[in-house]
Amino acid sequence: MITEGLKGRDFITLRDFTREEIDTMLDVALQLKADNTMRRRHMDILPGRTLFMMFFNPSLRTRNSFETGIFELGGHANFLVPEATRLPTLEGEDQGYGSERISDVARVLSRMGACIAIRILGDKVGWEYDKSLRIIKEFAKYAHVPVINMEDNIYHPCQGMADVMTLREMFGRDLRGRKLGVTWSWGSSPKKPIAPHHDFMYAASLYGADIVFSRPPEMRIDPDIEQAIKANVEASGGSYRVSDRMEDACEGADIVYAKNYVALDLLPPVTQKPEQDEMVKLFAKYKGWIADEKRMNMAKPTAQYMHCLPCERGAEVSDAVLDGKWGTACYNEAENRLHAQKGVMACIIP
Ligand code: CP
Repeated sequence: MITEGLKGRDFITLRDFTREEIDTMLDVALQLKADNTMRRRHMDILPGRTLFMMFFNPSLRTRNSFETGIFELGGHANFLVPEATRLPTLEGEDQGYGSERISDVARVLSRMGACIAIRILGDKVGWEYDKSLRIIKEFAKYAHVPVINMEDNIYHPCQGMADVMTLREMFGRDLRGRKLGVTWSWGSSPKKPIAPHHDFMYAASLYGADIVFSRPPEMRIDPDIEQAIKANVEASGGSYRVSDRMEDACEGADIVYAKNYVALDLLPPVTQKPEQDEMVKLFAKYKGWIADEKRMNMAKPTAQYMHCLPCERGAEVSDAVLDGKWGTACYNEAENRLHAQKGVMACIIP
């Protein structure tokens, strides 16, 4: 396993890694998956290592894939229950005995374990767009062990790894000539993260995909990430086009990735509750944006639907799509969270 240059690194955004480094982690992930299928475990890769997992938001896939993943590599996961842990705070936000400075939490956990993984986003940071990333970077600044981002407001790199691994299993390493229709879809909640869209497109753009991104005009993505996607497709032989018709993403697509996410321009602190209701009102204008049979039938006959899950059935996607011939990739994508993260951990944890 050639992982030079990766040991000891933080895994905070995909943008911190070259395509070759991402390929290395995916190669390891795919090998570990193949071995898992043969019931061959690799308990000797990270024997006795402890992964500390701090979840400030709920999770099914991320928690269980990390917990299972470190166990299958010979290590152990420690789940830090937020209610039973003093709030880790940035300088200037201390709350007496109710909080503990991140610089101290990171240094203490580094003395005990081999890796610290953190999920923090949304309500937990008052929807301040870059705050969750700043918190994770603060951990990384003081930790002596790798820090893994398990999702912030902007990035979900572990999801991006599982997504691109799933694409690679379907189409191979080279995505040139493959149309990925990526689209916003309607949801009843104004709280769904945008990070999975960012990292799905960012990861695919490294491999030459033709990305058609459809969204209502008010549902822009982060312009800095959009610039990076454009630069990637330029370098990798792919393309990137934006449309305000959902059908443009679906027509002739190999993959339809449809998910709801927040309107960035309506997030606090620009606006506060009750402006969240304003977001629901805005969403209502686009209630017809759903990945249903009609739209999936516009895609290639072999097309698959993708979503990071959890999804809102009947809103973002119809039952017929998810439970029908289009839904398999979605569950492969969820399973690949386990294998992709094993690849990452095997490569970065010393
Ligand atoms: N996709 C994803 O991150 O799922 P969880 O929120 O369940 O972890």
